[in-house]
Amino acid sequence: MSTTNTAASDLVSVTVADADPAPRTLAHDVHDGLTQPFKQLPPKHLYDDHGSDLFHAICDLPEYYPTRTERAILVERAEQIAELTGAVDLVELGSGFATKTGVLLDALKRAGTLERFVPLDVSAPTVHHCAGEVAAEFGIPVHGIVGDFERDLGLIPAPIGPRIVAILGGTLGNLQAGSRRHFLSRLRGLLDTDGRLLVGIDLVKDPAVIELAYNDAAGVTSAFNRNVLTVINRELGADFPVDEYEHVAFFDHENEWIDIRLRAVRDHAVRIEALDLTVRFAAREELRTEISSKFTRERIAADLAAAGLELEDLLTDADGLFGLALAKVA
Ligand code: SAH
Ligand code: TRP
Repeated sequence: MSTTNTAASDLVSVTVADADPAPRTLAHDVHDGLTQPFKQLPPKHLYDDHGSDLFHAICDLPEYYPTRTERAILVERAEQIAELTGAVDLVELGSGFATKTGVLLDALKRAGTLERFVPLDVSAPTVHHCAGEVAAEFGIPVHGIVGDFERDLGLIPAPIGPRIVAILGGTLGNLQAGSRRHFLSRLRGLLDTDGRLLVGIDLVKDPAVIELAYNDAAGVTSAFNRNVLTVINRELGADFPVDEYEHVAFFDHENEWIDIRLRAVRDHAVRIEALDLTVRFAAREELRTEISSKFTRERIAADLAAAGLELEDLLTDADGLFGLALAKVA
């Protein structure tokens, strides 16, 4: 672990969990994930520098309603959230480019309580970028953390007053059911009784609308998904024929999640040098790269309750597309 003050601003410090957290767990995750009967990888490896840029582009796609809807809810309700929480400290997990966070920071600043911002993300450039931007725009100390939110919550500094811990963009829904509840119970540990959790959740709706959001006409989502194979080729000396994988995203009606996969066009073997491993893919065999769970009020309330948290409010847009759950220690 190392902490540096960047030249950009005296207000910015960035703590890095490892020199580079992604490659260290990539080998382990790829080894586990590709030697199972049903192959799958954890989603965090989608977000290398190029992947983070591609995700940023996804957020602006006409089909991808979550980002603009979550932003609209925040614009409408940020003042109320600021008043309810009186937060001095905003901790954001999976902050990315923190494009919507400014709305919340702005409301906290206007309420006169804002003292600090703590963005945590596995992608180093996004942490540096948003830390610099927020320090410059809001004139507050920013303590960035480059790390894995399932592993490095211990690097988050102690609260300095009422705090909001936010995880936006539907990222909570990218965790599987058991991991999700375990993760929420660890987030509970970051909160004092005056703290609040703010969780962005995509809501169950017409499956056609959801499926379009993950199958955009311009093919950005496909490029984002296939980029994980480029990451493995580069980091682990593998030879995935990236162009011979198709992007697949469909709504699983039973589980109410979007299932995101890569499908091998033809039968082939992949060599992964760093693992001294050869993996066969049958024609049309699929590799899962992410799930994105969709929520009802009952589902998020049950997940929170299982983690010792209480759903206080669920803020939604008029069309019921997306939700922002506010929770506190039960
Ligand atoms: N909050 C932003 C970005 C959402 S995309 C928004 O709402 O638009 C998910 C973000 O979480 C990415 O920036 C990705 O790098 C980060 N991320 C994914 N898995 C992570 C993990 N295990 N630990 C830390 N960050 C992670
Ligand atoms: N958190 C985002 C979501 O669940 C992540 C995401 C959006 C994503 N589009 C994707 C992940 C496509 C993989 C592929 O909506």
